[in-house]
Amino acid sequence: MLPIPRGREEASSSVLQRRRATSNQHFIRNVYVQVFFIESICDDPEIIEANIMQVKLSSPDYENYDKEEALVDFLKRIDCYKMSYVSLDEEKDKHLSFIKIFNVGSRYLVNRVQDHMQSRIVYYLMNIHVTPRSIYLSRHGESELNLRGRIGGDSGLSSQGLKYAKALSEFIRGQSINDLKVWTSHMRRTIQTAEALGVPYEQWKALNEIDAGVCEEMTYEEIQATNPEEFALRDQDKYRYRYPKGESYEDLVHRLEPVIMELERQENVLVICHQAVMRCLLAYFLDKSADDLPYLKCPLHTVLKLTPLAYGCKVESFYLNVQAVNTHRDKPTNVNIARKPEEALQTVPEHS
Ligand code: G3H
Repeated sequence: MLPIPRGREEASSSVLQRRRATSNQHFIRNVYVQVFFIESICDDPEIIEANIMQVKLSSPDYENYDKEEALVDFLKRIDCYKMSYVSLDEEKDKHLSFIKIFNVGSRYLVNRVQDHMQSRIVYYLMNIHVTPRSIYLSRHGESELNLRGRIGGDSGLSSQGLKYAKALSEFIRGQSINDLKVWTSHMRRTIQTAEALGVPYEQWKALNEIDAGVCEEMTYEEIQATNPEEFALRDQDKYRYRYPKGESYEDLVHRLEPVIMELERQENVLVICHQAVMRCLLAYFLDKSADDLPYLKCPLHTVLKLTPLAYGCKVESFYLNVQAVNTHRDKPTNVNIARKPEEALQTVPEHS
């Protein structure tokens, strides 16, 4: 359990400090914080044993241990923890904000949810699960606009893109996935890719590619020629930069929140999406920073299979052997507004 911070009485002059604090509100070094307790209680022997086998046996404590011996040892350790562990009490702790999760989600007890953030935490915790599954991320097949180095738009697939759609279908069939859900965006290139699979799919507008606003359907060279300042500003802070009349990666992350929540609820899912969208989803599962996110490599015609594990996520990459253009532009060395055009275009991938 989280310790209850003390120090409310040390509050001095901030506006927040003038508010009357409840038992869940505290000031730590003059910063106002709301405390929310999360307790996970598991007393189902089968779940405990499976957890020990999957997670604890790989810890350095049990290197060179026989599995059965390690299991007995860890069960003894749990008995020791039980002697000092204090559970949240429905009566005594009823003034606190908390959620108690029983046996990895078979039952919940939610108490005194006080604000938007706490209700989002509760919603999140009530939607995640530990059933083994994989999430397959793929971009659409190569599009006509990809071939010409143009960003955004809503073009159809190139001939190589159509080949990829078939290859993806064979790959997915070869994986023998139980009860696979397939999701696309509302854009032609993802729908055309999904069509080749010959299975039902669900279209999500939230999965549409980042909106490049006034730069839609332009090449990077054209953006540099017509809006060199904008181009440099984007290179300076690609995550936060918002295209005029369009979106930033930060906007996209917010737009994708319901998709991510639903991905957490689902089991096996294939998401057929776009470069910027795939970067955001990948960053969420791999816990990447906002600075790294817009530069994650998500090449065309490559499936990333993500398998969530107890502490992290396993990533497997499958290039399906259908050639495609490269659409990845790395951050150039010079991001100054006063840079020369050749410096701005230093990392633009080749295209026709
Ligand atoms: O604009 C569409 C691209 O797929 C995203 O590429 O953010 O690396 O420029 P970019």
